[in-house]
Amino acid sequence: MSTQIIRPARTLQGSLTVPGDKSISHRYAMLAGLAEGTTRLSNFSTGADPHSSLGCMEALGAKVVKQGAGPAATIEVTGVAGAFQQPAAPLDCGNSGSTMRMLAGLIAAHPHTFTLIGDHSLTLRPMERIRKPLSEMGAKLDLLDGHAPMTVHGGPLHAIDFTTPIPSAQVKTAVLFAGMQADGTTSLSEAIRTRDHSEHALKAFGATLTRSGEKLSITGGQKLKAIDATVPGDISSAAFFLCAALLFPDSNLVLDSLGMNPTRAALLDVITALGGRIKVLNVEEHHGELIGSILVNRGGVTPGAPFTISGALTAQVIDELPVLAAIAPHTANGLIIRDAQELRVKESDRIALVAKNLRAMGAELTENPDGLEIPGNQRLHGAQIDSGDDHRIAMAFAIAALRAEGETEIHGAEAAAISFPEFFTSLDALAQH
Ligand code: S3P
Repeated sequence: MSTQIIRPARTLQGSLTVPGDKSISHRYAMLAGLAEGTTRLSNFSTGADPHSSLGCMEALGAKVVKQGAGPAATIEVTGVAGAFQQPAAPLDCGNSGSTMRMLAGLIAAHPHTFTLIGDHSLTLRPMERIRKPLSEMGAKLDLLDGHAPMTVHGGPLHAIDFTTPIPSAQVKTAVLFAGMQADGTTSLSEAIRTRDHSEHALKAFGATLTRSGEKLSITGGQKLKAIDATVPGDISSAAFFLCAALLFPDSNLVLDSLGMNPTRAALLDVITALGGRIKVLNVEEHHGELIGSILVNRGGVTPGAPFTISGALTAQVIDELPVLAAIAPHTANGLIIRDAQELRVKESDRIALVAKNLRAMGAELTENPDGLEIPGNQRLHGAQIDSGDDHRIAMAFAIAALRAEGETEIHGAEAAAISFPEFFTSLDALAQH
C-alpha cells in the first residue's frame, strides 16, 4: 500500500488536460469489441477500470492493439462482428462495476456461458439490479447472494418494457446493450435521468435508438460498425482540480478538451454555487459528446444557508460527491447532501469514509443514511487518511489537505490509478506551496 504526503498549498495555477472519460471509454471499448471493423480510439482513459473492459473484449475474441503509452496512446479494437466467442477463463472486471454490469447486458444474447469476476470491493457490490431485467429478457444469471461472481448463461433474448428502479446509468446501459440484440423493441424509462453516454455511443456505432419523452426504445437485431473517436477529458477527474481551485482566492486553472455532456456538467453549476467562477472558452461536438475548455477561479459567495444537493442533482454529480464533501468545510456556507444512499454501495461506503476522514481532519458534520451535512468555515488539520482502496476517496482528501494546517498522509493512495493514474503528478505541477 502506498502513502502520499500532501502539504498545504498557497494557490493552484496552470493548465491541465485530464485523461479520457472513464464512462465513455468503457462504452467505446465494449461497442468496438462487438462491432464489425477496427475502431481507433485516442485519449482513451488511462485508468485501470476501462482497461478491464478492454481485457474482457480481448477474452471475448476482439483484437486490441495499444500504440504509445499514457494519455498519448491510441487504441485499436477490432471487433467480433456481432459474435463473441466462449472465453477460455472467467472475465476479470477488476475493480470496475461499470465493466461487470454493462458487460452482462452486452454478452447476454450470445450462446455461451460467461463467468464474471472482480476484486474484493467489486464482489461486495449489488448485482441483483442487473439480474432482474436481464432475466426478464430470457437470460439466466447466477449470483452468490446477489453478488459476483456472476455467471451469465447467454441465449436468445426478447424485448421488455423496463423502468429503472434506482437511478443507474449502468443498469440502463445493460438493458440497452441487451435490447439491441433482442427480439423486438425494448423500452426503458428512468425516473431520474442519468448520464446518456450509452445513447450517444450506440448512435455513433450506427445503432438506431429513439427517445419519446422519458422513454428510450431500441430495436433488436442491430449491427454495429467501427468508428474513429477521441474520448473527451473526464469531468469527474477534473472535479478534483475544480474543487481545488475553489480553495484559494487567486487560483487560476484552465482545463482543456474536457467532456461537457449536459448530463455530467451539472457539476459546473455546483462549483459556481460554492463560489467558483467558470468561463467556458470553447465547445465542440464529437459523436454527440460536447468537448470544451474552461477557465476556473474563485469568485465570491454571499454568506447564507448551506448549498443543498438532492434529488436529480445528486444523481448527476454522484461521482463528484466525495470531493465536494471533502472540501465543504473550507467553503463559506457548507454543504448538505441528500438522496445519496447509492454512495454507500460504490467502491466503498463513500458516506461513511468521507465522514470518518473529515472527522480525522477535525471537521464537524452529521452523517445521515442518505448523505451528509457539513457546515462551512471550518479549519481542518492534517491527518492520517484511509482511502479504503477507493480511488475517489484518495483523491478527494488530497484536495481537502491542500487547505489543512500541517501535512496529511493519504494511505492507499495507489487507488487513484483506477480512474486517474496521473493525479498526484498533476497535483504537484499545479499546487504552489
Ligand atoms: C457510471 C454510472 C454511475 C457512476 C459510475 C459510472 C457509468 O454508476 O457512479 O462511476 O459509467 O454509467 P451507477 O450506474 O451505479 O449509478
